[in-house]
Amino acid sequence: MTDQDAALFAAAEAVRKNAYAPYSNFQVGAAILADDGKIYAGCNVENAAYPVGNCAEPSAIAAMLAGGGKRIRRIYVTGPGTMPVTPCGGCRQRIREFADLDVEVISHGVDGQPLVQTLGQLLPHSFGPEFLNK
Ligand code: THU
Repeated sequence: MTDQDAALFAAAEAVRKNAYAPYSNFQVGAAILADDGKIYAGCNVENAAYPVGNCAEPSAIAAMLAGGGKRIRRIYVTGPGTMPVTPCGGCRQRIREFADLDVEVISHGVDGQPLVQTLGQLLPHSFGPEFLNK
């Protein structure tokens, strides 16, 4: 693992501890390496009205935008257990808004091996901002 990946993993794990997940008890952390060279992290935030809860990835995206980052260069997602936590369908689309298709999405279970996939692999034939000339 490179130093940069170790820092991303550590950031995802650190923020995961702050996840608010009393309903699923499934704490997720996400850490983005942004175009400004900084790491931005976010956790899942659940709600008693279940559908209103949000995933870790949009929290990290919001932190990136709030901090001045514009594009995702690399993203880590970590969760409990050994199975790599891959972004849900909605989060793949949210990542798509801010990342190129060759950006690597690394999923880590705490004790497991990393699963490395490009955004294009996770979300083939996807719809994105360029369809709207953005
Ligand atoms: N979760 C995430 O934070 N990211 C994902 O990509 C998958 C699911 C969260 C949502 C919910 O709080 C918990 O994991 C169980 O689904």
